[in-house]
Amino acid sequence: AKVAVLASGRGSNLAAMLDARERGELPVEFVLVGSDKASAGALRLAEAANIPTLALDPRGYPDRRAFDLDLFQRIAASGADWLVLAGFMRILDGEALKPWVGRIINIHPSLLPKYRGLHTHRRALEAGDREHGASVHFVTAELDGGPVIAQAYLPIEAGDDEQLLAQRLLPLEHRLLPTVLALLVSGRLQWDGQAARFDGQPL
Ligand code: GRF
Repeated sequence: AKVAVLASGRGSNLAAMLDARERGELPVEFVLVGSDKASAGALRLAEAANIPTLALDPRGYPDRRAFDLDLFQRIAASGADWLVLAGFMRILDGEALKPWVGRIINIHPSLLPKYRGLHTHRRALEAGDREHGASVHFVTAELDGGPVIAQAYLPIEAGDDEQLLAQRLLPLEHRLLPTVLALLVSGRLQWDGQAARFDGQPL
């Protein structure tokens, strides 16, 4: 399976997928890593892994939809079958992403449906939650609203602050995302238009 990835930052989730591939746990070909930030560390990781990269500057477009349509056109041109948002910090236009629904996933650092949007670790702490986590979900036009496929979770500890909690969650994200992607590309997990369904076979 051919996979494109979008990232806006350091790309630790991209790195986790590349590592999983190296370990033989994720049999995919990464055909493109795209970003809205030319300085994104994720692009440096892709370059080092000889993966084609794409940096599109939103300021070069008249509006959000124009940017998204061009971005998706480039992704389609890469031959990607799947699209993974891994630390991508833009909200994608519903029309532009429509053809991809069912083949586009995102990792979000909260136990959805709690804390859609930003500052999830801080919000969980402020709410006095006893646990926190990350969700991999199908992307739809609704921000962080698509069907959740799987979650990783951990207890919130007494000494946690926003930074420490994020730091403790990240390794779980790095196991969750490659695992879900591997299940999807192998067909073990399917989108039935409403939900993510397993084929019921042993993992
Ligand atoms: C991660 O916490 C991820 O859940 C969120 O963006 C953060 C940074 O991701 N979407 P990365 O290190 O750039 O992969």
